[in-house]
Amino acid sequence: MVRLRQVSFAAALAAVGLLSACRLDMQVQPRLNPLAESNFFADHRGARPLVEGTVARGDLRADTYFYTGKIGNNDGDYMPFPITKEVLERGRERFDIYCSPCHSPLGDGNGFIPTRGFSRRPPSYHIPRLQKAPLGHFFDVMTNGFGIMLDYSSQVTPRDRWAIVAYIRALQLSQDAIRADVPAGQAIPSRPPKMKGVDASGATLPIVAPASTPKLEEQP
Ligand code: HEC
Repeated sequence: MVRLRQVSFAAALAAVGLLSACRLDMQVQPRLNPLAESNFFADHRGARPLVEGTVARGDLRADTYFYTGKIGNNDGDYMPFPITKEVLERGRERFDIYCSPCHSPLGDGNGFIPTRGFSRRPPSYHIPRLQKAPLGHFFDVMTNGFGIMLDYSSQVTPRDRWAIVAYIRALQLSQDAIRADVPAGQAIPSRPPKMKGVDASGATLPIVAPASTPKLEEQP
């Protein structure tokens, strides 16, 4: 029993010794403060430059088309991801923020800024050349700029640029659709939605009546 106690005492002592030594080591190990000078390296810089070709995590950009809109040197004409309602809504929101001040919400080039002395009026998206332009062209214009238009690569992320591309194509269709583009059963022009108790004074927002309640149509 006495021996056991001695052994555990020795073990405890050894543990204390080992642990405290460990703590000391961690505290006094050689290190440099950020950007401090170092005599170890020939250029005396403690902060080392990145190894050539270093890629940040998540920034490999292996999908070249997603980041350039180009296949080789030519503009591609497909979306790098499927267009959903969310993508179009995002595209409309970003377009209205970043592009409509010059290109107008309709994309006809009659935005506010060109009416106040901006040196060149942007072209309408509804001219045949831009109607036929491949999707990659619009992505490229936003990524690298075009003529006197500056690029939007730092303000708009690549995914958002593609969302804007999809929305521009929707805008073009909206201004130049033919009867065959309208889904079967849809009236032309489409009927305005039924409103619930509209006072049309502008004081409150109108509420669209749900389509499945025909009784509301009788209301004044
Ligand atoms: C400050 C005003 C301004 C804003 C904002 C702007 N543009 Fe432009 N854009 C122009 C002008 C001006 C031109 C014509 C440039 C030229 O021909 O030198 C142009 C041209 C274009 C063209 C036509 C290129 C061609 O092939 O003729 C596209 C497409 C375009 N812009 C897309 C966009 C998109 C998308 C955005 C939003 C991300 C945007 N622009 C924001 C002013 C603007």
